[in-house]
Amino acid sequence: MSYILALDQGTTSSRAIVFDAKGRIKKIAQKEFRQIFPQPGWVEHEARDIWSTQVGVAQEAITGAGLRASDIAAIGITNQRETTVIWDRATGQPIHNAIVWQDRRTAGICDALRAAGHEAVFQHKTGLLLDAYFSGTKIRWLLDNVDGARAKAERGELAFGTIDSWLVWNLTGGELHITDASNAGRTLLYNLHTGDWDDELLGLLDIPRSLLPEVRSNSEVYGTTAEGLFGARIPIAGMAGDQQAATFGQVCHTRGMAKNTYGTGCFMLMNTGGEIVPSANKLLTTLAWQRDTTTYALEGSVFVAGALVQWLRDGLGIIRSSGEIEALAATVPDTDGVCLVPAFVGLGAPHWDAYARGTLIGLTRGTTKGHIARAALEAIAFQSADVLEAMQRDGGDLKELRVDGGASANNLMMQFQADILGVSVVRPTVTETTALGAAYLAGLAVGYWADTEELRALWQVDRVFEPAMSDDERAGRLATWRKAVERSKGWADV
Ligand code: G3P
Repeated sequence: MSYILALDQGTTSSRAIVFDAKGRIKKIAQKEFRQIFPQPGWVEHEARDIWSTQVGVAQEAITGAGLRASDIAAIGITNQRETTVIWDRATGQPIHNAIVWQDRRTAGICDALRAAGHEAVFQHKTGLLLDAYFSGTKIRWLLDNVDGARAKAERGELAFGTIDSWLVWNLTGGELHITDASNAGRTLLYNLHTGDWDDELLGLLDIPRSLLPEVRSNSEVYGTTAEGLFGARIPIAGMAGDQQAATFGQVCHTRGMAKNTYGTGCFMLMNTGGEIVPSANKLLTTLAWQRDTTTYALEGSVFVAGALVQWLRDGLGIIRSSGEIEALAATVPDTDGVCLVPAFVGLGAPHWDAYARGTLIGLTRGTTKGHIARAALEAIAFQSADVLEAMQRDGGDLKELRVDGGASANNLMMQFQADILGVSVVRPTVTETTALGAAYLAGLAVGYWADTEELRALWQVDRVFEPAMSDDERAGRLATWRKAVERSKGWADV
């Protein structure tokens, strides 16, 4: 019997999951790694930590499952998107820490490009907005701020990659410098209409083309792991950004289907089929996956979701483990007027305010940690409600939302999510859909699974949460939330 290994390189941990032919989990290995906050609003990772934890958990998952490398039919890679690494092609060493997607240091570069009237061209060509979230301005910052980087880049000595590229480079012993179309689409440099890097955008950001990886599809055999890494060479056959992979893993394969993943952030994607649908409501137009044809999606990106629970644990210390939040929130019947806006790294969709900061409002002498925990769970759901509303205004007609990721296990939050969205929230039996999607993309490429029809038959419902809140109450709760959001805006700019 053979298996597929998915490498899921996330913002706070590296995970490896072995899947069987029924899409069931045989083994998971996971390791958190260091988050570096050099200044308020800045977030970095040590790229070597990313690689060492990722290869470590891959080895652990294979051996922990009682398998050998030769039992693995293919590897699929999925990753935190936009996080930017530049390394030296000769030594393979990064020239600086990776700048993480949440990092706000390039907000000023975005402001300047916007002031010069360039937002429309970026939006039209890439489907994205000018925000520090995306890789383009992070590359620019590295070239401008790391000693000698620009000159080296101009001589072709450096390589840029998002985390997929960084992992493939290392997995293949420096043989391949590639990315996939879904990750390329998050850089501000990739033109969705031509399917290639765009010289005009490269010029506006002052980035030499020689830095860039070759763009490949999401499901094909790119190469094999280097000799000696796992005992046998394993084909690397699928790659996708984590949110696109989750959409694929949720088998949202047809136009109009949508999923929401509760990870470090929270990302809602709706499949728009083969059509590049521009958003009139500040959502992103994103490439979902490229197999024989290209599928696109509309995306609402929320920057802080699970990271808020992590902050309650590590920053405030009001819970000892993330799992405790549900019980703590259940100690109170409601938030008693407390509202928590987790704009720790600004606000993403649909607000796009790089200068917003976290706000805890409505405190009284009666406020307890239970109220704060409950407000935190509600905040995660409220942010997704703002995104869903934008999606509906853009023409999405959602009847149900498929959910996944760690926090989708939280029943209290999922019920509140259904209540505040006013649509059914559907949780599948396997909520590791990000890794599953990467496994599917790799498995399809090597014939492990025959087609998407076969994958759709593997998807099963665990639980459906039906909305139970009255329209009046929903409207009232959303109005209070939006008032609090307004208070958080622009804070770091004053
Ligand atoms: O765009 C950022 C996203 O890919 C991060 O995902 O799973 O680490 O929240 P996650």
